[in-house]
Amino acid sequence: MKILIVEDDTMLGELLQECLQRLGHERVRACLSGREAMGAIGEEAFDCAFVDLRLPDIDGLQLLSAMKDNDHGLPVVMMSGFPTMDYTIMAMRQGASDFLTKPFTLQDVALTLQRITKERRLLEQNISLRLEVQARKELEEVNRKLESTVSEQTRLFRISREIDEIRSSEDLYPRIVELASSLQSVQKVAFYLAPDDNGCLVGMARSGWGPEEAWFPKIEIRQDCVRELLTGDKNHVLFGPEELPRFFENGIHWDQPLSCWPMRIRGEPFGLLVAFHTKDSRPLPEEERRLFDFLIKKASLAVENMALYESLISNFYGILRSLVNALEAKDLYTGKHSERVTRYAIKVAETMGCTSAQIESLRTAGYLHDIGKIGIQDSILTKPGPLTAQEYELVKKHPVIGDTIVSELGLSPEERTIIRHHHERWDGDGYPDGLRGTQISLIARIVTVADAFDAMTSKRAYRDAMSMDESLAELVKNRGRQFDPEVVDAFVHVAQKMGKNGDK
Ligand SMILES: [Fe+2]
Repeated sequence: MKILIVEDDTMLGELLQECLQRLGHERVRACLSGREAMGAIGEEAFDCAFVDLRLPDIDGLQLLSAMKDNDHGLPVVMMSGFPTMDYTIMAMRQGASDFLTKPFTLQDVALTLQRITKERRLLEQNISLRLEVQARKELEEVNRKLESTVSEQTRLFRISREIDEIRSSEDLYPRIVELASSLQSVQKVAFYLAPDDNGCLVGMARSGWGPEEAWFPKIEIRQDCVRELLTGDKNHVLFGPEELPRFFENGIHWDQPLSCWPMRIRGEPFGLLVAFHTKDSRPLPEEERRLFDFLIKKASLAVENMALYESLISNFYGILRSLVNALEAKDLYTGKHSERVTRYAIKVAETMGCTSAQIESLRTAGYLHDIGKIGIQDSILTKPGPLTAQEYELVKKHPVIGDTIVSELGLSPEERTIIRHHHERWDGDGYPDGLRGTQISLIARIVTVADAFDAMTSKRAYRDAMSMDESLAELVKNRGRQFDPEVVDAFVHVAQKMGKNGDK
């Protein structure tokens, strides 16, 4: 230990220093006055101090107080020849650690040092524990913030991922309300499209309503509030139940606060997400507001991307349909073949109870089933007579050429089978892949029958058109060989209703 002695009596000071040295403490600094001691504690740190209660310049208690101000943990031993009770109590109050009564013996000094060392150790332990507790508290706080950040990031990621997976606006609205209603401070959520011609917000999806509970499928919004809610620059409007009549003409009642989050596409109002708060959440917590902001921005981008994608695909289909039209216009005898085949096929699919997705596939790809003929020479396609075997082999390539053309279009696998497999046969003798039976998709089997029927009932340069009865008889004859028997049965039923051109 480094020890400071403050004693104006030189003999006593030297005696104490000698005692300390005999007890193994060599690092001792002795001062003869209070001022000298004040200078010493300003220059260096000590582990312990022995201070005479009566000094010539500064009162011992004053020095004790200054030492404690300088280093609160410094153990200070007060020395006095005649310690009174008052002085002792005052010194204790000011933080004195022990008392040494003059004259002292080596044993007195040793015992004092033992007590001080013990006190010092306890003090250090105390400080160490306090620091540990403080550090733990700080760590817990950091952990709490980290957990909160991770939780928020996880929710943002979930929102982002779920919205990225959506492919149509019909799926988007329910997903938005489902994601929003998972927030704690929200009891119900509804999504409305921007006002229609009648100035009404049109409800598209909702979450949080009971099965018997009435909701607001249409909300009339006051004209002067459209700007505030939809077209202005606010990304969020909060109002209490008493303010509802100011915004909405009628139809909406709620006895808690509401939050409205406008969705805009390129600055134009598109929709409104309405969140009905739980009782004690006015306004929404900061984290939930950030999640709402993100959800709306992400959904807006998704709507915009879907619209762009749909427009792009629609243009692409338009081009392909034009190519099919151009292809068919070259041949006097095949005009509108693809359109008729598609009409028949859709009707047969409906009769056979196909799903709406299958019917939509027919609507999309039925028209393009012969698109591959673009890759076949015109002289072969428009040849005014039967084809040679070599020419027929070239024509047989059109399903594969067509499949290659649409491969980058994003058609579903089933839609592509219409183009690739409409010349496969039920008995496996078709082309290009030689599939048989149900290896061929149902919608491709339907197009096969419609295609054959329209070919038979159309006039060719080298033969007359077959009558409807003859054509249907031909289909029935090949039932279970070239064609799926069930499709033939459904087709016969449909064709008798629709007529030869499929337009009834
Ligand atoms: Fe074909």
